[in-house]
Amino acid sequence: MSANKKLKLGVLASGGGTNLQSIIDQCREQKIDAEIVLVLSNNPDAGALERAAKAGIPSVCVNHRDYADRQSFDQAVIRTLQEAGVDLVVLAGFMRLISEVFIAAFPQRIVNIHPALLPAFPGLHVQKKALEYGARFAGCTVHFVDTGVDTGPIIIQAVVPILDNDTEETLSARILEQEHKIYPQAIQLIAEGRVKVEGRRVHIEAASNNEEALINPSL
Ligand code: GRF
Repeated sequence: MSANKKLKLGVLASGGGTNLQSIIDQCREQKIDAEIVLVLSNNPDAGALERAAKAGIPSVCVNHRDYADRQSFDQAVIRTLQEAGVDLVVLAGFMRLISEVFIAAFPQRIVNIHPALLPAFPGLHVQKKALEYGARFAGCTVHFVDTGVDTGPIIIQAVVPILDNDTEETLSARILEQEHKIYPQAIQLIAEGRVKVEGRRVHIEAASNNEEALINPSL
């Protein structure tokens, strides 16, 4: 992507918006060739809306409670994103399932971040589930969104060890730290046109792969 043509992001968030903040910061520091043209929330009290206002980024609340069903809510969201000229829809803690009509409006142009090493632990409260399961590793995943729940092709993952004294809070915090790194990176790879989806697999042009095995507890 050339210097003057930035990828236009629409960030959808329902909560505090720390992932949104990491993307705002990296755009501002010109670490990624992208600009956020709209922050959209379904929750009028979302911290993400405050973060957008503080950064001088246009924001809007499309409250799902104002719509009769998911389809009409999604139509309103799609229209708003299209009017803003969004190239890539970035789900950052957006707590609504999105319908097929939404996916069809932005084919392979919707990404999500999930705080687990997919395909393990899709859905909600996944840090707690990984801990209770006794997994030795947790992590986070950025993936394209398809019609399933957290099932789309995977772009990038970070692995985080689970420690003996971890609680849901400490593990979540350690995962979140990595989320703030891999989400901007995934956006940059897309902005550079290096991401190609081939069935379930995502090919990243000139990727520097990490070849090291991770073992926990260590040998
Ligand atoms: C993150 O853990 C993300 O992985 C999940 O929702 C949370 C959003 O956190 N999808 P924040 O609002 O970005 O702080």
